[in-house]
Amino acid sequence: MDAFVIHGGKRLKGTVRVSGSKNASLPLMAAALLTEEPMTLRDVPHLSDIGNMVSLLRELGCEIEHGDDHVMTMRVTDEMNSHARYDVVRTMRASICVLGPLLAKRGEAKVSMPGGCAIGDRPVDLHLRGMEALGAEVTLDGGDIHVKAKKLRGARIFLGGPFGSTVLGTANVMSAAVLAEGTTVIEQAACEPEVVDLADMLTSMGANISGAGTPRLIIEGVKELKGVDHRVIADRIEAGTLIMGAAITNGDVKIENCPLDTLTAAMDRLNAIGVTAEPVEHADNPMRCTVSVGSARRLEPISVTTQPHPGFPTDLQAQLMALLTLADGNSMVTEKIFPERFLHVAELARMGAKCYRQGPTVMVSGVKKLTAAPVMASDLRASAGLVLAGMAAKGVTKVNRVYHLDRGYERLEEKLRGIGAEIERVAE
Ligand code: EPU
Repeated sequence: MDAFVIHGGKRLKGTVRVSGSKNASLPLMAAALLTEEPMTLRDVPHLSDIGNMVSLLRELGCEIEHGDDHVMTMRVTDEMNSHARYDVVRTMRASICVLGPLLAKRGEAKVSMPGGCAIGDRPVDLHLRGMEALGAEVTLDGGDIHVKAKKLRGARIFLGGPFGSTVLGTANVMSAAVLAEGTTVIEQAACEPEVVDLADMLTSMGANISGAGTPRLIIEGVKELKGVDHRVIADRIEAGTLIMGAAITNGDVKIENCPLDTLTAAMDRLNAIGVTAEPVEHADNPMRCTVSVGSARRLEPISVTTQPHPGFPTDLQAQLMALLTLADGNSMVTEKIFPERFLHVAELARMGAKCYRQGPTVMVSGVKKLTAAPVMASDLRASAGLVLAGMAAKGVTKVNRVYHLDRGYERLEEKLRGIGAEIERVAE
């Protein structure tokens, strides 16, 4: 198992590029199952979650190449196997993305029921409610979700749950509804940019979808979809992490391919802390602008609550908390999407942070400095928060089990080294 060794206290300086989005790529890849024609995806990052999805799609009869140039070519050549096995699903929950496409194209799918994970229970009831509404018979068989339908029929479907909508649930139901007969209306659809990217690609494939990016999606079913050549949107969570990395080291960094327009809530909170991110080029194309990040010497404390998009993203909560440990006063962080997503709190405390948790809320009482320590977290974003803390702490921080980071950040240590961090990957 690899670890990162970080010699903290270096200001980040220079230019770094944001990769294509992991969370957009996964449902886009699964959508290859909806057509027999070839599909090309561009800017797909090399990550372990992407590798897992490649393996799963190959098992499901899809030929795939993923080049060093981040271009992925895909084509389904065999539709015999529609079973996403437990061994695959337990390594990556997002395997559930194949459920809707398989059901729509092959009339049947078996996907092992994802278990709980480090950030909470994560049920899939809303996904299944959507499939049932479209006319599928849903059963549970030996730990597998089995969905089956001779024909899918459009329906009105409500996808709101106790914590808001569901991102992958919306992707799944939309991917099934594009080939259903008639009109589907999804109420309380997720508005995340990754859902919009999927809707854009499905539309280029011949689907008829309106309302993407709003809570009401309207889908007119079509008979078949064709191939497509599509560029994946930039990763807003990686961009936000890099912005906070610049801020926590009091750095001065240019971030290319930064999807600033999808980071409104994050920038609102960062501005309140004293962090600025100004577009410096391509202002005409905010999806792919370069931003110049700077921060005040004194970081202001703030209150923040995670929410579905366009609210503050849960996937940036741990990184923001790392930054707030050094603010001048008390901050409040409330987690409304995954109320147990606080694995970083105890680890930050090992570095001298003062965090007091009560249920879904953590009060972060800013300290003057963090101290280096060996730390570890069993979640991707929690680990990213610890890397940021390590870059700010004087001394040597070791972040263990970085395979969590490799699931969602492409060559993070190389990118950070490129802008002045002293960070190395070591084998344990
Ligand atoms: N929920 C239900 N029932 C469902 C589905 C979800 O109650 O059927 C609940 C969840 O337990 C949670 C809330 O609804 O409380 C939102 O979950 P959602 O379904 O939106 O999460 P997801 O689609 O499984 C994606 C991202 C996550 C990100 C969340 C929220 C991917 C592959 N994953 O998960 O990303 O945190 O949306 O924005 O897109 C990450 O990248 O580190 C990550 C965890």
